[in-house]
Amino acid sequence: MTVVTRVARTRAELAAARATLPTTVALVPTMGALHEGHRALLRRARDVADSTVVSIFVNPLQFAPTEDLDRYPRTFDADLAMCAAEGVDLVFAPDRAQMYLREPLVRIAAGPIGDRFEGASRRGHFDGVLTVVAKLFALVRPDVAVFGQKDAQQLALVRRMVSDLDLPVRIEAVPIIRDDGGLALSSRNAYLSAPQRQAALALSRALRAAEHAQAGGASPADIVEAARAVLAGVEGVTPDYVDLVDPESFESLADTVDADRPAEAVLVLAARVGSTRLIDNTVMTLQPSATPTVAST
Ligand code: PAJ
Repeated sequence: MTVVTRVARTRAELAAARATLPTTVALVPTMGALHEGHRALLRRARDVADSTVVSIFVNPLQFAPTEDLDRYPRTFDADLAMCAAEGVDLVFAPDRAQMYLREPLVRIAAGPIGDRFEGASRRGHFDGVLTVVAKLFALVRPDVAVFGQKDAQQLALVRRMVSDLDLPVRIEAVPIIRDDGGLALSSRNAYLSAPQRQAALALSRALRAAEHAQAGGASPADIVEAARAVLAGVEGVTPDYVDLVDPESFESLADTVDADRPAEAVLVLAARVGSTRLIDNTVMTLQPSATPTVAST
């Protein structure tokens, strides 16, 4: 069934429409260019709440001056069609002036988790993400907000922000949606040429190699090495980072000993394919190493 989705462009329109929505309300924050990964989030929202609000806003605060803010894909009509098909009640699509009434001098600081991995490559990125997410929470006042595991570090930081700042919203996470070849869906895949798309399959192959190593009882360092070796062997793919991390703190587990390790870990990686930066990850359960080596006396 296709329903008409209302669109709010301003804060006033949002407030008026929000007041008419049946509670509970789920928010799905996006930057548009919606694909099947986003669709999975819309479906989860519908499953867990009475009404769904989708925000579409390409947030300048989370892009560095050298990044792709201006050429980020914008496909509003198609986005709206997907939202209508998925029964979304309201799309909040503000312009920059509506979202940032003035230059925000006070922002959310992501802290040390925000300095690692994606944050190391994209300085200030997570401060920008958390600031806009906090603003969206304040404007939409959702009971629940839905995020993808695709951006594992973003998800960990949003959860941490909600916990540290006692924000009255529940966070739902949706697993990564991939295409038939295994490539994690991303709005930035639109930048890839056909040969680059082929090369980009190395990212999910690297994750599978890591999972295989893990299933065979490999150490964290060897799990990481298995993924690295796959990326290193593919022309046109320049790895940025590959590591096995704690799912909450994003601290590296590669050099930890058994006793200090959580049961769950995330293998995170990022690589450049041409000028496009892609990220991917997989959650795994670590096995304690079989027999500790004990020096005989
Ligand atoms: P965007 O990249 O549009 O992603 C919106 C949401 O969709 C995020 O929670 C992301 O993890 C999820 N998502 C993207 N691709 C996915 C896939 N293949 N499988 C599952 N989920 C996927 O992330 C952002 O926008 C922004 O940083 C935002 C949170 C909106 C703040 O500006």
